[in-house]
Amino acid sequence: MVSLLKNKKKRTNSSRAWLTRQLTDPYVAQAKKDGYRARSAFKLIEIDDKFQLLKPTNVVVDLGCAPGGWLQVVAQRVRKGQIIGVDLQNVVPVGDVALIKGDFTEPETVAQLLGGLGGKGVHVVLSDMAAPACGIPSVDALRITLLVRSVADFCDKVLLPGGHMVAKVLRGGTENELLSELKQKFRKVSHFKPASSRADSAEMYLVAIGRKPQESGSRWSHAGTEPQGTPHETEPQGTEPQGTPQGTEPHGTPHGTE
Ligand SMILES: C[S@@+](CC[C@H](N)C(=O)[O-])C[C@H]1O[C@@H](n2cnc3c(N)ncnc32)[C@H](O)[C@@H]1O
Repeated sequence: MVSLLKNKKKRTNSSRAWLTRQLTDPYVAQAKKDGYRARSAFKLIEIDDKFQLLKPTNVVVDLGCAPGGWLQVVAQRVRKGQIIGVDLQNVVPVGDVALIKGDFTEPETVAQLLGGLGGKGVHVVLSDMAAPACGIPSVDALRITLLVRSVADFCDKVLLPGGHMVAKVLRGGTENELLSELKQKFRKVSHFKPASSRADSAEMYLVAIGRKPQESGSRWSHAGTEPQGTPHETEPQGTEPQGTPQGTEPHGTPHGTE
């Protein structure tokens, strides 16, 4: 490892730091050992172990799914359901998971996704989407807020009563207006930072559990697709939503495919 670092004299400081981190990160080693495409698989494992979201016959949508670490975890835990992954990038297939290449913020991609669901309601919507960081905290915060907003709007369309939403946000949590909206729509809303999420990363996850039935009725047919079991009522570990809008917090660099 040392020679690998020494020999590459042309590496920039940041790429050397990245390489050192990759070579010494226990989650990278464990991901390799367990056959996961990305160390980020462990973040979903931690989220699901804590909140008990995924059930074997669920319909699950994974937004920002490349290279497929979360999809691998979902496929292990949702063996008889339906899984659809969406990303800007190509993804090497994971079992019989359906994949859509496109920008989730574009109506055509959402239309394609709705077509793939064929009118079925969704039990769990996951989003690990992150726009590339520009380093200006208020801009990065706005970008991720727009992504989370688009995920929440999608949930309005497809999530079954009792269904769950998980979305990556930045330090400071979910933007206030969206957070209070979600608190009205879900039974419980928390923020959670998995141990496998790097301490120096600004990322954390919004976990919204137990979608309340929509007053005006969803456009979706819910027949035979009710969520199974009651998700656990667990408190997040010291990461309760903070009242601070994201733009006021310093941010690190959101992860790419870790
Ligand atoms: C951190 S990676 C996801 C890692 C993934 N959860 C895994 O375990 O392999 C974030 C992904 O979000 C995707 N992404 C970002 N913005 C997107 C958008 N608007 N539509 C679709 N995918 C997007 C990126 O292309 C990137 O692959």
